[in-house]
Amino acid sequence: PMLRRRTLLQGSVALGGAFALGASVAAKTGATPDPQILTAQFTDAQIAADGVTPKVMTYGLGEGTHPGMPPVLRMRKGEAYAARLFNRLDEPTTVHWHGLRIPNAMDGVPEMTQPYVYPGDHFDYVFTPPDAGTFWYHPHCNTLTQMGSGLTGVIVVENPEDPAFDAEIVLNLRDWRLGAGGKFIDPFKPRDAARGGTYGTVRTANWQREPVYDVPAGGLVRVRIAATDVTRIYTIELAGAPATVIALDGNAVDAPFPLDRLEVGPGQRVDLAIRMPESEGERATLGNFRGSSPWTIAALRAVGTSLKRDLRDIVALPTNPVAEADLSAAKRIPIDLTATAEHKATPSICGSLGYTFWAINKTPWPGDTSDPVAPIEELKLGASYVLEIANRTPHAHPIHLHGLSFRILASNKRSFLPPPTDTILLLPDEQAEVALVADNPGDWVIHCHIIEHQKTGMTAYFRIV
Ligand code: C2O
Ligand code: CU
Repeated sequence: PMLRRRTLLQGSVALGGAFALGASVAAKTGATPDPQILTAQFTDAQIAADGVTPKVMTYGLGEGTHPGMPPVLRMRKGEAYAARLFNRLDEPTTVHWHGLRIPNAMDGVPEMTQPYVYPGDHFDYVFTPPDAGTFWYHPHCNTLTQMGSGLTGVIVVENPEDPAFDAEIVLNLRDWRLGAGGKFIDPFKPRDAARGGTYGTVRTANWQREPVYDVPAGGLVRVRIAATDVTRIYTIELAGAPATVIALDGNAVDAPFPLDRLEVGPGQRVDLAIRMPESEGERATLGNFRGSSPWTIAALRAVGTSLKRDLRDIVALPTNPVAEADLSAAKRIPIDLTATAEHKATPSICGSLGYTFWAINKTPWPGDTSDPVAPIEELKLGASYVLEIANRTPHAHPIHLHGLSFRILASNKRSFLPPPTDTILLLPDEQAEVALVADNPGDWVIHCHIIEHQKTGMTAYFRIV
């Protein structure tokens, strides 16, 4: 009975939020759809070539066992979506819908926006995604272990007004820290957590090593890439075919530009339009070109007689309804990212790595607790703000803000300013100004998406009232 009451309450909260973000949209869609059953569970999966990983975690659709990777969840812009999370793990969990601007009660941050979902329990998520694009989902509890063990999936929010493609490929990029026999090894090394983060040992796309997908020869393919690894910053490049970048972090690029080399940090997404070669069997190969040893992420293989499409036929995607900040009235808020003196961290229901290495505005995050530190700032609902984010460390940090999209106004390290985003990859010593409208009420976490940094202090939050 308690669960049911909670469910009903959340449903009404969700609808209220949907109205706040787009009244016409919520009014049009009416009733909440049947929930998609999403079961967090253990599964067997062959990840490493030489063994079985016995404790891989995944999301399965339905309540039965699901042997594969987390499904791509498909939603529609402006239409209500519902999911019921069942926890069949042996520890608490939640789901965070990364990049979706949805009501705070649906955001999946334990203690702050919802209770822990304990093993055997369930939780109902109901919301209306206001933006179309490529997003993703993952737990917000014991994340280094849970995400590292497999719990990262891609979300596609469809827009019927998007240009048509001949094929669509969704790629979930991530690594695994596996040792001999395909067993998980220590998820991190403290000395790496205090630097750039600890890398996995096995690289995959869609849980496979260098997968190859058949797509129409001479066709236009939309590739949706989500970097869901806990550490790795990719430098994406394509060989064998021309491509344009059409969206970054779910938002349309005003003028699609040719893909050269693109840095994509943990949490970020990129949508590409690729024009396939015309001859059957030819490949377009997506690679990572960081450092001296480039490697293949995935490949597309041309099949059939050529469709003879032209990349210039791809028009810009429709933009999402992100409010433009009023810069003349915007209050400026400094956000300083720093290393901090190392000390022991407090234990937490959602796991602690046991160390503190990082801080935001000098305050290291104490962990998921019912008694957190004060918000960075209380923001006024509907007001505009400029965040002056300064990375005062020699490491890159993909900084993610929940519940809101922001626009990068200026940076001392970049000339190209991307469309609105939920995650900015701050380069070493980068100082950037980003603008936002505080149009979504609630407590919203801001944190580094290198999970070891998030879990060793580089987390804070805003309160919007
Ligand atoms: Cu994608 Cu707070 O996370
Ligand atoms: Cu970081």
